[in-house]
Amino acid sequence: KPRVFSGIQPSGNLHIGNYLGAIQQWVAGQGQKTNFICIVDLHAITVPQEPAALRQQTRELAALLLACGIDPQQTTLFVQSHVRAHAECSWVFSCVTPLGWLERMTQYKTKAQKQESVMTGLLTYPVLMAADILLYDADEVPVGEDQKQHIELTRDLAQRFNHLYGETFVIPKPVIRESGARIMGLNDPSAKMSKSDNTRGHAIRIVDDPDEIRWAIKRAVTDSYNEIRFSDDPERAGVNNLLQIYELLTGKSRPEIEAHFAGKGYGALKKEVAEVVVESLRPIRERYYQLMNDPAELDRILAIGAEQARAVAEPKMTLILERVGFVLPN
Ligand code: TYM
Repeated sequence: KPRVFSGIQPSGNLHIGNYLGAIQQWVAGQGQKTNFICIVDLHAITVPQEPAALRQQTRELAALLLACGIDPQQTTLFVQSHVRAHAECSWVFSCVTPLGWLERMTQYKTKAQKQESVMTGLLTYPVLMAADILLYDADEVPVGEDQKQHIELTRDLAQRFNHLYGETFVIPKPVIRESGARIMGLNDPSAKMSKSDNTRGHAIRIVDDPDEIRWAIKRAVTDSYNEIRFSDDPERAGVNNLLQIYELLTGKSRPEIEAHFAGKGYGALKKEVAEVVVESLRPIRERYYQLMNDPAELDRILAIGAEQARAVAEPKMTLILERVGFVLPN
């Protein structure tokens, strides 16, 4: 079975971009693949976090992932800080990563601009990500488009380590779907939907109530073509975005969808998309609230996940320390 690793930050505001770009793929791969899904709290603290909020958001994210269909019987779901090897491996990797590789990262450049003061961890963020992936010998990393550059750095780093210290790591490949790779903001289809944009009507959050979802989709920015079809034209990005959301939630083919909407107006499109989103998220939201009512069960699931993850990461970490030339403790 191919091994899959992916991660997600407990930064709150989980939205349908995260769901359609990443989580839906993780759920679909269960059974056929060996899945490791990690709630990356170490990554979250690369920008300021309030401790109580971070703790709350970590549990909320675990509940949301389970509600979205992550099955702990089939997927190892765990919290990054529960497996010490991630931080340890990240240190070793930071000593074989040229600074220039990190300074080139577009996500670093964008995030750094938004911070008053940039912490070192924001720069070394992709090194920690490489540690996540490589500790598990992952073959595939299913993500949205925005993570592609980080996975390329992971590949380069794995190759470099293998070259310096001998064959140690599997070279992972990013898995990015054609649809859903980049879900755009509803209020501005030229920018990707983002957790940090709190403007009303920008994102659809997994826990938004139906009226809020309808409000946001009704006001989604479109264009003046009045033609409902999939398109790469940046001017038609708004309609294309709504169509991709519809496609991924209904599982219908593109020709089928275009035929269905032929001759209809944008008002009708928005109404149908809104209903599909509302009905798809309804059961997820309900399961989420049930799970949040049982924190002991959540913690139990995360404890089992951590144990399974450690069983893979710890021996790999020992191998890394040995390769680098450390005297292993008895
Ligand atoms: P994060 O938490 O920002 O996002 C989680 C996943 O959601 C995808 N995503 C999107 N996909 C489509 N359209 C969007 N608008 C959109 N916004 C977010 C992201 O691409 C991601 O797949 N660095 C990672 C977390 C991470 C990780 C890893 C991922 C840490 N270690 C190891 C893979 C492997 C991040 O911040 O994702």
